[in-house]
Amino acid sequence: MTQPNGDARSWWKEAVVYQIYPRSFNDSDGDGVGDLGGVYEKLDYLDDLGIDVVWLTPVYDSPLADYGYDIRNYREILDEFGTMADWERVRDGLHERDIRLVMDLVVNHTSDEHEWFEKSRREVDPYTDYYIWREGDDGPPNNWDSMFGGPAWTYDEVRGEYYLHLFDPKQPDLNWENPGVREDIYEMMRWWLDREVDGFRMDVINFLSKPDGLPDGHPSQVVTGSEQFINGPRLEEYLWEIHDRVLSEYDAMTIGEMPGVSVEDARAYAGSDGPLDMVFHFEHMRLDSKETEEDPWDFHDWELDDLKATFTRWQEGLYPESWNALYLNNHDQPRQVSRFGDENYREESAKLLATFLHTLRGTPFVYQGEEIGMTNVPFEDVDELEDVETIRYVERMLERDDVENFEDIQDAVLYGSRDNARTPVQWSAEENAGFTTGDPWLKVNPNYTDINVEDARARPDSIWQYYRRLIDRRNEHPVLVYGQYELLAADHPQIYAYLRTNEDEQALVVLNFSTERAEFSPADHIDGEGELILANYDVPQSATLEDGLWQPYEARVYLLD
Ligand code: NOJ
Repeated sequence: MTQPNGDARSWWKEAVVYQIYPRSFNDSDGDGVGDLGGVYEKLDYLDDLGIDVVWLTPVYDSPLADYGYDIRNYREILDEFGTMADWERVRDGLHERDIRLVMDLVVNHTSDEHEWFEKSRREVDPYTDYYIWREGDDGPPNNWDSMFGGPAWTYDEVRGEYYLHLFDPKQPDLNWENPGVREDIYEMMRWWLDREVDGFRMDVINFLSKPDGLPDGHPSQVVTGSEQFINGPRLEEYLWEIHDRVLSEYDAMTIGEMPGVSVEDARAYAGSDGPLDMVFHFEHMRLDSKETEEDPWDFHDWELDDLKATFTRWQEGLYPESWNALYLNNHDQPRQVSRFGDENYREESAKLLATFLHTLRGTPFVYQGEEIGMTNVPFEDVDELEDVETIRYVERMLERDDVENFEDIQDAVLYGSRDNARTPVQWSAEENAGFTTGDPWLKVNPNYTDINVEDARARPDSIWQYYRRLIDRRNEHPVLVYGQYELLAADHPQIYAYLRTNEDEQALVVLNFSTERAEFSPADHIDGEGELILANYDVPQSATLEDGLWQPYEARVYLLD
């Protein structure tokens, strides 16, 4: 953790982060599962792309009920992924290339196979109260739901009590009220930081504090109980403790994953004086979903107005003291080009979305495969799915009278499943997209013959090459990192345009977020001349701010005089 954020410069503000979901990144030993050896093989690839930080989703020992977000041992690497020596090789290889390494910190819960839980269910001290246990005479102790659906409580035969799990029953929640739990977590964090990790992405970190008495949740909430355990009463205290006891001693980057946070919350948790550096909020992930209790995946089209309003609120709200973590997809979300772009304009819209993300104030997070415009996947059957959340969703929906078979909910699954993001990275047009010589653990998107890294790197006008240039532009022009954001033409139905301004420079970003041509003349909104520094169409260098016609998904960045 560096000094207060403010408008001060920091390496983690200037960085572009690349997220690796190792299971699907690259398989080095032919067992069909990506591994650390596979990451190692691609270090030069990451370096060539120009990213500064890798965020590695969990590689710890785990029974994989939630693909690694259920940790059995915080200090061991899962066999399938390799050994600690493999991890060290990756870390050193990244560091040699000046790329930092951020690990996933999953401390709201562990696996039920973690030694602490094994001991806790047998009431072996000091672990007896390491988890949240309650008696329940006539069923679960309160009405809270799990985030994956169904009750958040499971009865444990061994202990004869219910335990709380806000996710899968195999992910029991740790009891943060217990100082012993906190002490063990801090020691584990220091253990990794002493092994030269450069920070943590902190899984559902705003779920840590549960209110005294675990009161029932209000039935109006989509996930019953969520208003009780999101941003709970002692959360700030715990985050500060994490900061004071651990982070303050290291130059680490911290990003708290925080479903349900508002701008105001984010300022408290990650302001210039806050305990963390940034938060992942979810407001733009809700723009296309009605999320009712009956159907949490009730998707509809998102509206540009809402996108502008949401991003503008966060851009303005976190200025100047706080910092945005910018993302449009990750391992939990569908592919961004399929959701916020258009597969019929795949190349154009992928480049536009990249331009958007990298020219807002904040740190951009690129999710593996995004840099070649990987898309959602045509899953044909429930057997092709692996993600616990999706499988639970399908099971729950099939229990409804109005849902007869998978086809009835296929659209929602094809749009929303986390498996869309988790199919193997498409490296080449070879069998299994060059990801593995074995049988891939999850289907490869059949479009790999057209969409793959080998092809993208060979083509000068590819999405990959565009990312490369975009990252260069951001490095060359601090205004794109630090500049203040100002929305232009708020009511334009197709164009999203904004200015970025600091003491030395001013940039203008114009994005036609639509499949139709759009009319918009920047000169109507700003004076002076502009130099075009990036465009996703072949635009003459002489393009001026008077230009008034924008192609579908056209994106341009100008530096203003
Ligand atoms: C958020 C993680 O990103 C997701 O993959 C996981 O299922 C939940 N937290 C629970 O750990």
